[in-house]
Amino acid sequence: MLADDVKARVAEGSDTPGRSCPLDYRYDPRALGAGEPVLESETVYVAGGVYGNAWALERLVAMARDERAVAPVVLNGDFHWFDAEPTWFARVDDLACAQHALRGNVETELGPERGEDGCGCAYPDFVDDLTVARSNAIIARLRRTASAARARRLASLPMHALLAIGGHRVAAVHGDAWSLAGWGFATESLLEPRARAAAAEAFAAARVDVFACSHTCLPLLRRVGDRALVINNGAAGMPNFHHTRFGVATRISVHPSPHPVLYGARIGRLRVDAVAVPYDAAAFRAAFLAAWPEGSPAHASYLDRIERGPRYQVAQAVAA
Ligand SMILES: [Fe+2]
Repeated sequence: MLADDVKARVAEGSDTPGRSCPLDYRYDPRALGAGEPVLESETVYVAGGVYGNAWALERLVAMARDERAVAPVVLNGDFHWFDAEPTWFARVDDLACAQHALRGNVETELGPERGEDGCGCAYPDFVDDLTVARSNAIIARLRRTASAARARRLASLPMHALLAIGGHRVAAVHGDAWSLAGWGFATESLLEPRARAAAAEAFAAARVDVFACSHTCLPLLRRVGDRALVINNGAAGMPNFHHTRFGVATRISVHPSPHPVLYGARIGRLRVDAVAVPYDAAAFRAAFLAAWPEGSPAHASYLDRIERGPRYQVAQAVAA
């Protein structure tokens, strides 16, 4: 389990919507350890945080088709978010659900009988209250957008998946090894020795060489011990680095990438790489502004990131 200080920061037990970690978000990494792979391939793309960017999702699917054999695309959650218009939502939903889709907190909170937990983000203390309140307002509007049938389908998606890639076992999760919305693999968390020790235990329990995650919205690549990697793609549908306008996806393969690699690492036969997902930034921005004009919660929280990227550099994503 997470070290106590990290537990406190993920606000377990909090009743505040957007800060709470719902009980049914939790799982045991031993469940992954006991599982059989849901797919086997020499190359897999894993991408979370599409956030309704249909242009990025279409580009990602096209990138996977550029491989020597069409590669599966695993969407590890939060493929909806800004797409709070029925037509836009359906476009994203149809393409996402045609991939190996896992639910993130966004898809989970769209499900029937949800709504008590806000966005389900389990935001830690270093995220301010206003940001949390805006996220709760965004999910409330998205709940009004999604049809009941689509919401039911999304809420029934799995929370995690075990993948066999080039003979290695890889876990695709949205949050971390313990929770759909866990922050145990966040940059801040993995700096702490006790959290790193807990992560090493989770790799052993899950019997995997790689955890591919998302949720925190910032990319990261970290070794945990000698034979384990955590890779977080950040967001496939928003910029991840300052003054950039592309998303990031995780590509795991035994073959070199046909697409530009931002950074990566090797483990056994595998190349575990972060690849850029270039998308039509003007089209995405226009759709975003039409749905979320000035004064709306998404405009306040995200326009700056969409236009300029976060104050985050590639060197931070790969720092030891
Ligand atoms: Fe998330």
